[in-house]
Amino acid sequence: MDKRPIGVFDSGLGGLTTVRELCHLLPGEDIVYFGDTGRVPYGSRSAETIVKYARQDVAFLRTFDLKAIVIACGTVSTTSLDILSQENPMPVLGVVVPAAQAAARTTKNGKIGLIGTQATIRSGAYERLIHSANPDAQVLSRACPLFVPLVENGRFRRGDIVIETVVSEYLAPLKEAGVDTLVLGCTHYPLLEGVIAAYMGPDVQLINAGAEGARAVAGMLEQTDALAPNPSGGTYRYFVSDRQEDFSRLASIFLGWDVTEAVGQVDISQY
Ligand code: DGL
Repeated sequence: MDKRPIGVFDSGLGGLTTVRELCHLLPGEDIVYFGDTGRVPYGSRSAETIVKYARQDVAFLRTFDLKAIVIACGTVSTTSLDILSQENPMPVLGVVVPAAQAAARTTKNGKIGLIGTQATIRSGAYERLIHSANPDAQVLSRACPLFVPLVENGRFRRGDIVIETVVSEYLAPLKEAGVDTLVLGCTHYPLLEGVIAAYMGPDVQLINAGAEGARAVAGMLEQTDALAPNPSGGTYRYFVSDRQEDFSRLASIFLGWDVTEAVGQVDISQY
C-alpha cells in the first residue's frame, strides 16, 4: 500500500487519455498531472530538445513525493524513457511498450498501421517492439503532424469538417493497405478515436497508447503492492505551462468532469 500520488506528464492535453483510464482502473489513486501546453508540440522537435523538456517536466513533478512517474506521451516515451528511468529513483513507465505489445497480440492478418508524431515515427521504436513480439507483422507507419495542433485547439469531434478531411488524408494509405489494427501511437490521438474509427471502419481495431499505458501502470502497482487505500476516491491536480483557461475548458469536456478549480500554472523554465 502506498498513499503517494502518481505523477503523469505529457506535452499538452494528450496525457489525459492516460488519466481518464487510470481513473477508471484505479479510482483511489491521487494524480498530479503536468501538461507542457506552452511548448507543445514536442513531436516536431529534435531528440535533444525533447529530452531537455522531459527532464524539466520530471523535475517539476518531483517537487511532489511521487510513487511512480508515467510518461503519458508517445514522443517522450520513444526518445527519453531509458534516460528518465536511469535518472530517477521511482518507477518510470511509458506508453510505447504496452501499446506495441497490444498491437502485436491483436492483429489477425499481420498488417498493423502505426500513426504518431514525426519524432515517434522517426525513432522506429514501435516497429522494433512490434517485431520482437511478432516477427511476421508488417508495420505501415505514418506521421500525422497536424493532429496534435487540431486536438489542442478543440477540433476533435465527429462532424468537424477540418479534422475529418485531415484524418482521411493521413489514413487513406493505411486503409487501402488493409491494416486490421491501427496503433494510435500518440496520446493525443485517442481524442480523435470517434473520427478515426468512423473513417477506418468496424473491422479495424484501434490501439489506444494512453489506455495501454494506464493498464501497465495498474499492473505494476498491483504487483508491487503499491496501490493507494482511498475508498472515497483519489484527488487530481493539474498543472500547465500556459494559460489555465484553455486547458481547463478542453480537459473538462474530455474527462467529463470540471477541472477548473484544480488547474495551476507553472513556469517550467525554472526546472
Ligand atoms: N502527446 C504527444 C505524443 O504522445 C504528442 C504531442 C506532441 O507532439 O507534443 O506523442
